[in-house]
Amino acid sequence: MSSLLFLLLLLLLSSSPPPTLSQQNDTVACPLNFDVLRRFNPGSNRPKLDRNTECQYILGGLRLVEAQYLQLTDSFLPPPNASESCWAAYQALASDFVPNFDIRASCGFETSWISQGCMNITTRQQFEDLVGNATLKDVIDNCNQSLGTARPVPLAPPACPTCKPRI
Ligand SMILES: *[C@@H]1O[C@H](CO)[C@@H](O)[C@H](O)[C@H]1NC(C)=O
Ligand SMILES: *[C@@H]1O[C@H](CO)[C@@H](O)[C@H](O)[C@H]1NC(C)=O
Ligand SMILES: *[C@@H]1O[C@H](CO)[C@@H](O)[C@H](O)[C@H]1NC(C)=O
Ligand SMILES: *[C@@H]1O[C@H](CO)[C@@H](O)[C@H](O)[C@H]1NC(C)=O
Ligand SMILES: *[C@@H]1O[C@H](CO)[C@@H](O)[C@H](O)[C@H]1NC(C)=O
Repeated sequence: MSSLLFLLLLLLLSSSPPPTLSQQNDTVACPLNFDVLRRFNPGSNRPKLDRNTECQYILGGLRLVEAQYLQLTDSFLPPPNASESCWAAYQALASDFVPNFDIRASCGFETSWISQGCMNITTRQQFEDLVGNATLKDVIDNCNQSLGTARPVPLAPPACPTCKPRI
């Protein structure tokens, strides 16, 4: 379930600067901060990747950005009225690294997916209510530790049928 991944990332991420509002749509500005991905800039050595691999990176980047949003807001997802502006913001960032690559068209992502989560979970509270205290304790015990000493944690949780598509 990708929500679990978000929780793991939430526990692993250190504090980051507040989101910048960018790429305004007529509706609402995207609350996600895609600029956090710039710290992973591979520079001019970035290899050219096939489309599937590129799309996996794009999905992974989105999860990281949403994890930071969760950390800052206790909400997994931006509101639906920010879907368009969030894709536009991500596209703007992606275009700096992969020219001429329309991330939605190339990867088959639908606009609404960016604000639709897994199992109807939007907030951290909903997630915690759903998984229950025992599971939550297990995750915290295993994952809330410094990255220097952390045992490997599963970064590819099982697929959830109602989650965003896995590529
Ligand atoms: C803003 O979002 C709405 C709803 O998703 C969409 O219909 C509209 O075309 C978007 N406007 C711009 C300028 O992208
Ligand atoms: C966008 O959606 C949020 C959450 O559903 C809502 O609180 C907000 O008023 C909406 N903004 C506009 C401009 O429709
Ligand atoms: C998801 O939540 C919405 C509103 O909270 C509800 O109308 C809808 O039926 C829910 N869908 C599922 C699959 O539980
Ligand atoms: C789960 O933990 C919360 C906070 O520690 C507590 O308020 C709640 O009663 C617990 N729920 C159950 C079912 O044990
Ligand atoms: C994670 O560990 C830190 C430091 O030990 C602690 O302050 C924090 O409350 C823990 N978080 C959770 C969710 O248990």
